[in-house]
Amino acid sequence: RPPLRVALAGIGVVGGGVVRLLEANRELIARRAGRPIEIVALSARDRHKDRGVDLSAYRWEDDMGALVAADDIDVVVEMVGGADGPALTLARQALGAGKALVTANKAMIAHHGIDLARLAEEKDTPLKYEAAVAGGIPVIKAIREGASANEIARVYGILNGTCNYILTLMEREGASFADALAAAQAEGYAEADPTFDVDGVDAAHKLSILAALCFGTRLDIGAVAATGIRDLIAADIREAEALGHRVRLIGMAERDPAKGGALYQHVQPCLVPADHPLAYVPGALNAVVAEGNFVGRLFFEGAGAGAGPTASAIVADIIDIARDEYGPAFAMPVSALDEAPVADPGAR
Ligand code: NDP
Ligand code: HSE
Repeated sequence: RPPLRVALAGIGVVGGGVVRLLEANRELIARRAGRPIEIVALSARDRHKDRGVDLSAYRWEDDMGALVAADDIDVVVEMVGGADGPALTLARQALGAGKALVTANKAMIAHHGIDLARLAEEKDTPLKYEAAVAGGIPVIKAIREGASANEIARVYGILNGTCNYILTLMEREGASFADALAAAQAEGYAEADPTFDVDGVDAAHKLSILAALCFGTRLDIGAVAATGIRDLIAADIREAEALGHRVRLIGMAERDPAKGGALYQHVQPCLVPADHPLAYVPGALNAVVAEGNFVGRLFFEGAGAGAGPTASAIVADIIDIARDEYGPAFAMPVSALDEAPVADPGAR
């Protein structure tokens, strides 16, 4: 089959990882995809920035719109970030032009995922976002495909690598909150605006996406109540330890049978018993637990942030597209989601 021709928009932490992965595993990826996957063009803000990776083999476009307009591009990979602005413009243009879209952008999916999915369906083109939730863990695929026959009672877990990294450093090394955040930023884990991480907003974005997939509801970021970790101090961590617990930022979505199955979605720092599997999740790892009525309890753990794991998820999406393996972006086609119940922010 002819090569699948890819354009990369945004060559930062994640984009650089995608270039390295596609180059390092080129042969293996071509065998598994059934065709070569070729980077054709790239774009970011500053053409002259040193990105620690040789991009001279690829066409550089100063204007991101040119990636979409080009006839020699099949897939646009959005790694710019931000719920709106250039990322959303690019996504709409790409899908509107009938090109496949792969994105790592949970903020954009949480706010505009349904509209983008509708556009993708109208144009019969894939919208894929595995990297947007839990970094390298293939949890979108696992829940959307692997657990799709189940009624899911609840989904919860550690959804932000930066916060987990900060909590681990505070716990194990007695680091201050500010020093631990600076270390997470230096590792490339944090969002461009790290308040999204530490205030629980990033975890809320991811939880809203997981909830929509698990419960077949309309994605509704406004229904997630989020509290972050910025007010935690070393004494809170020590106190939790003295009580046999660890502090973890947990996102949870569950149906409340006592309230007619209303959906409750919450992100908050929690005291996790020291012998619970979530208490053992260290550093920038994430973990997701989903409870299905036939499969039982599923537990996924892996790197939740960083260049390599995120690139792994993005390239898996590109390989799916190369194989023509894709379906609706969410639990069901958007026309059916329009009829689905909304989440209920007042459920508890
Ligand atoms: P970076 O800030 O490292 O990279 C962003 C890239 O987008 C840069 O190349 C930047 O250009 C480019 N860019 C930003 N604004 C513009 C603009 N207005 N016009 C053109 N180009 C622009 O971010 P990350 O790589 O960390 O994150 C990218 C996306 O991936 C985000 O949506 C993030 O939430 C998501 N994500 C990140 C993970 C991580 O671990 N870092 C994990 C999972 C998802 P330039 O380099 O020239 O400044
Ligand atoms: N800033 C995010 C985190 C990146 O720390 O989890 C991965 O989505």
